[in-house]
Amino acid sequence: MAKVSIIGAGMTGATTAHWLAERELADLVLVDVLEGMPQGKALDMFEAMPIIGKDVEIVGANSYEATKGSDIIVITAGLPRKPGMSRDDLLTANADIVGKAATETLKYSPDAIYVVLTNPLDTMSYLAMKMTGVPAQRVIGQAGVLDSARMRAFVALETGVSVENIHCYVMGGHGDEMVPLTRHSNIAGVALRDYLPADRLEAIVNRTRKGGGEIVNLLKTGSAFYAPSAAVAQMVEAILKDKHLIVPAAAYMQGEYGLRDMFFGVPVMLGRSGVEKIVEYELDAGEQDLLQKSAAAVKETHEALKNLVKL
Ligand code: APR
Repeated sequence: MAKVSIIGAGMTGATTAHWLAERELADLVLVDVLEGMPQGKALDMFEAMPIIGKDVEIVGANSYEATKGSDIIVITAGLPRKPGMSRDDLLTANADIVGKAATETLKYSPDAIYVVLTNPLDTMSYLAMKMTGVPAQRVIGQAGVLDSARMRAFVALETGVSVENIHCYVMGGHGDEMVPLTRHSNIAGVALRDYLPADRLEAIVNRTRKGGGEIVNLLKTGSAFYAPSAAVAQMVEAILKDKHLIVPAAAYMQGEYGLRDMFFGVPVMLGRSGVEKIVEYELDAGEQDLLQKSAAAVKETHEALKNLVKL
């Protein structure tokens, strides 16, 4: 059985474990700084396995030794947003936490692939790559699967068509400047732009961009966790099963889309070695423009990180 360790057993971490356990893909380890909490959640979840008929070991720990020999390390440790906060506001607090999680886990799992969820996730992925020194291919940030899923859900609500027929692609940073691609997105092959009136499509694009904030404002004490963790589970599955699945995710840019030395949301092919390929879409001038604007915002957060931490 493969092994997946999840650092941060809070809302997203524990729910990631839940989705993964249901898939019976890997034994799971939950690590958190809070004493007893990861152990309690892990034991509780493990006790559910006979009911759902899955042979998965789930353990909780407060130290990193338990993560030894992991195939994948998921990092969700850190603070979530509160109303009025942007994801970038989390940078200072979360850089410390993610840096430690990445370097400590590397000691016990030198070959692991990192999936980063902690926000601001493009920059946290960059930090994890720099601090561990692992090849870029082995670090992936989750955001695009979630942003695309939000858009798909809103299109389904609008049209009444099955979510399975709705394919949406959201590129760029995981912030208000993200780039929902309305020309590439489609319902069973029909471009969204042709399917929906322009004003309805614009409303969906706007709701997608602010999707995370909508949930933060409702929850008030934290941020979204069901859909973000479901997105991580899909990525972990694609890696462990070597599916060569193309999803939007944050990957290290080395000239793709004209970008360098930063993590950014682009379509990637996921397989057993991590990011197997970055797919370059043909973008028109308008899409290029939006993408570059989003990249500029993400680059700024990377620069802020470099002022905080020596990388
Ligand atoms: N090591 C391990 N766990 C830690 C550490 C650390 N150094 N510091 C904090 N944690 C744990 C907290 O104890 C908490 O249980 O991280 C967990 C975070 O869980 P939540 O507060 O429930 O936050 P969550 O909603 O899961 O969001 C975590 O994911 O989506 C992003 O923006 C979100 O950055 C946030 C992260």
